[in-house]
Formats: sequence, C-alpha cells, structure tokens
Amino acid sequence: MVVKTNLKLLKKQAKKSIIGSKNLQELNEVLKEYFGKEGKLTLILRSLDKMSKARRIKIGKEANGFRIFFDEAFSKKKSSLAIAFLGRSPATGEAESKEKWIDITVPGKRPELGHLHPLTKTLRQVEDIFESMGFAVVLGPDVETEWYNFDALNFPKNHPARDQWDTFWLKTPDKLVLRTHTSPVQVRYMEKNNPPLRIIVPGDAFRHEATDVSHDFQMIQIEGLMVDKEISAANFRAIIGEFFKRFFSTQGGSASGGKKEIKIRLRPDFFPFTEPSFDVSITCLVCGGKGCPICKNNGWVEMGGAGMVHPNVFKNCGLNPRDWQGFAFGFGLDRLTMMKYKIDEIRLLRSGDLRFLNQF
Ligand code: PHE
Repeated sequence: MVVKTNLKLLKKQAKKSIIGSKNLQELNEVLKEYFGKEGKLTLILRSLDKMSKARRIKIGKEANGFRIFFDEAFSKKKSSLAIAFLGRSPATGEAESKEKWIDITVPGKRPELGHLHPLTKTLRQVEDIFESMGFAVVLGPDVETEWYNFDALNFPKNHPARDQWDTFWLKTPDKLVLRTHTSPVQVRYMEKNNPPLRIIVPGDAFRHEATDVSHDFQMIQIEGLMVDKEISAANFRAIIGEFFKRFFSTQGGSASGGKKEIKIRLRPDFFPFTEPSFDVSITCLVCGGKGCPICKNNGWVEMGGAGMVHPNVFKNCGLNPRDWQGFAFGFGLDRLTMMKYKIDEIRLLRSGDLRFLNQF
C-alpha cells in the first residue's frame, strides 16, 4: 500500500474535518480516521522503520508535529462540543441558552461563614458568669403594662421620675409600653416565686431618645435580683466585683481587663424602686481612663443603676418587706460589650455593617 506522507496536506484535511464535526461521534470518527488501527497517521508511523534514516527523521518529526497539532485541535473542539451537548435540555434534547449551562469545572466559591454577634458573645459570657454564682436566667415580655413598668416599681402617679424613662407608648387603649427597662421582670418573678432567689434577666429595653455615640434607643439590659433574709449593699458590691473581674478577664476581648484592675465606683443615685440607690461606673476601658467621647472625658463609664429593693416593691409582689432584703441592678449589655472590645460608637452594634462585624 502506498502511504501518503504529505503531512502538510493531511494537516489541512484533518483541521477541516475536526472543525466540521457536528457532534462528538463525528469528531471521534476523525480521530479514528487518523489514529485508528488503519488510521492515516498510524500507517505512516508504522512504515517509518522501512524508510531510510534521513527520511525517517524528517517524516518522524513532521508526524510528531501533526500529532501535537491534532491533539490540540481535537481537545478544543471536544470541549466546545461538550458545552453544546450539556447545553441541551435533558428533557427535550433541545439546545438551551448558554446562560443556563453550568460549568461544573469552575472552582467553587467559598461560602462565607457567619459567626456570633459581639452582643451575643458578651450576653453568653454574662450569663455563664452569673450562672456560676447561682443566678438563674429569666425572661420577660418586651411589651409591658403601665403597672409592671412603673406602678408596681413604686413610681408615684404623675411623678417626674416617669419622665426619666422616655417611653414609647403603644397606640392601644390599655396603655401598653415598650418596656423602658428590665426591672418589671423583678415584679413578675417575685409574684410567682418566693425568696430566697437569685436571677438575672437579659432583655431589650427601649427609650424614646436621641442617639449619640454612647446612647441608642434600644439596648439590651441585664437586670439582676438577689433576695434573701439578710442581703446588704456589701453583698452587691462583692458580686459585681467578682462579675467585672471575670467578665473582663475572659477571652475574646481586646480590653486588658485581666491584667489591669478594673475600678468600680458606686455613687448615690435615685430610682423609685430601690433605696438606697447607686449609679455604677467602671474605669473607661476604651481610653484606659484618660478621657474620650465614650466616658465624656472623665475616665468613668456608667454601667447602670442599682440599689436595695424598696419595701413597696416587695409589698406589690405580695412579700413582707420585714422578712426579706435584696439588691437589684440593671446593667447595659451594649456598654459592657463596648468596654470589652473597645468599641467607641454604640450605634455600630446594630448597624449590620459587615466591615464592623467581621472584626469579631
Ligand atoms: N431600671 C434601671 C434603669 O433602667 C436600672 C436599675 C435596675 C436600677 C435595678 C436599680 C435597680 O435605669
């Protein structure tokens, strides 16, 4: 058999057939035509050893070039045919638009993993610490009656102290409010549970007021209540001392609370439901006490209020104030979080801004 060795011509023909293939079968036929058992290239390669050395080298080189060319043209055509093939609807066999086609060879996108919000992290830490000191975590409703939010807590009717809590009133005939603090849960709990008791109540509280770097109209408060036969302000001081010590030395915060002593300051304050009452502040951990907008340049940040449960509150819960003593406190979780992570703008916490949140 005369073997055609005009590889230039073969290349031209092969190129034409490859490009002209309308589907994978046709393309495979072209492969067979050149590289099958009786393929055109196969025959050339088989006849090489019958050629003179010089010719063998020349043809061998050309055949090799042909193979490289063929491989490339073939696989290019094959993948374009595969795309066209996959682009057909499996149901109808009809060609579908390119957009519908899914390229399964494209590397996957790494899904972004979520993580706990800084407020959730601190809330869990606060709960852990108090639970380890024997406090139970209790919840109450966000929408309160005037009775629980004010009256039962010893706010006299029309007393200016009610204005201290800028209240969101609901447009309901029964005068419901978005609770302005978590203190109503003290009453709800003591109505149903007899002392001795230790609870904390985390929950949202709402204030109808303008916002700034350290005030938001919504905040999470942590109410605390401990009632027993003989409870004094000294017990309160000891419990919160331990709490702050542990809270600022647990991992996760950038505050150097573990090493530096956190100073706690109690000053006389007024709340209708406690007597005496205190304002509780700690050294500002955002600036280290040097002075910044968060501590209004005085080095102290108010964490909340506290005091000894007022006898009238016990009475309103059906308890005899002669039998029981207790302390209560209400801390702001937002402030605690800001101190722990040195956040200098409270509104970032609820901004939903990922540039902020991804830092935690
Ligand atoms: N409820 C008070 C507030 O919102 C804080 C507080 C709680 C004060 C318990 C005394 C006792 O400001």
